[in-house]
Amino acid sequence: MRVVTTIREMREACLMLRGRDFSPLPRRLGLVPTMGALHTGHLSLVRACRQECDITAVSIFVNPTQFGPAEDLALYPRTFEEDCRMLEAEGVDLLFAPEVTEIYPGGQLRSFVDVGEIGERLDGRSRPGHFRGVATVVLKLFGIVTPDVAYFGQKDAAQVAVIRVMVDDLNLPVRVVVCPIVRESDGVALSSRNRYLSASERVEARALSAALRHVEAMAGAGTTEARRLRDTLHEDLGASPGLRIDYAEVVDPETLLPLASTVRGALVAVAAWIGSTRLIDNILLTPAGERVSR
Ligand code: PAJ
Repeated sequence: MRVVTTIREMREACLMLRGRDFSPLPRRLGLVPTMGALHTGHLSLVRACRQECDITAVSIFVNPTQFGPAEDLALYPRTFEEDCRMLEAEGVDLLFAPEVTEIYPGGQLRSFVDVGEIGERLDGRSRPGHFRGVATVVLKLFGIVTPDVAYFGQKDAAQVAVIRVMVDDLNLPVRVVVCPIVRESDGVALSSRNRYLSASERVEARALSAALRHVEAMAGAGTTEARRLRDTLHEDLGASPGLRIDYAEVVDPETLLPLASTVRGALVAVAAWIGSTRLIDNILLTPAGERVSR
């Protein structure tokens, strides 16, 4: 695995790997953007990329512009050596790990991606400017790496919706692939932020996926009224004393707007604070009310 820290080198490395043989078919390059502190959730994207693409590039960049002033940028776990070992073992070709000054020379950009109202829904509501930062850095990564395919996790369902809107609106020549949520055996979605949890908080974190499973069972048993599903989420999560709900909603997975009915499918998404850690989770309901992804 080649580790590259500058934009110039990354461009050259991508060009070189792409043109390495003289086969008539162009070599397909896939990108997995991450902020490091890697776990099996991230690796599932890497594995999907390795299966579908000829070249697998991963980026590790803790992007300051997607963190609010009171958020955990300084604390965000950084485990670069361990990340490198994991990616090497997965057979990744290229790791792009730039410094902040390489991506934001002079500290600020003149241009950014304004994702409009969708950027103010779900996580965007409680994290103002978050999706502007995400979309901007992802567009920059697309510009630097020029991937054919980019891999994202369903874990960040609102991020997926925002990226899809950006790719669609700006006609970016990238195919977006979304991979299912990887969970621990007790149902908790893997997250770099799980490291922040104490042992008792980690137990409390089960409430998120448990509430989602409850709603999934209700939907499976025929409930399509979004209000009832939403109420159940609030009741279930509200029963956990150490947990503070940020949002618990039943929305359209593309627009992130609240739905009245799940008849045509729905994204059931929750975010909650456990102590000082904010966790998110979601499930997708198919039109029939059955789960398609966890
Ligand atoms: P990060 O939180 O590091 O996540 C990188 C990718 O891994 C995202 O697409 C995320 O949805 C996916 N992922 C995280 N946990 C997962 C899980 N349990 N199962 C499946 N996929 C999972 O998301 C970001 O970084 C950043 O916002 C980024 C896109 C890199 C832009 O800075």
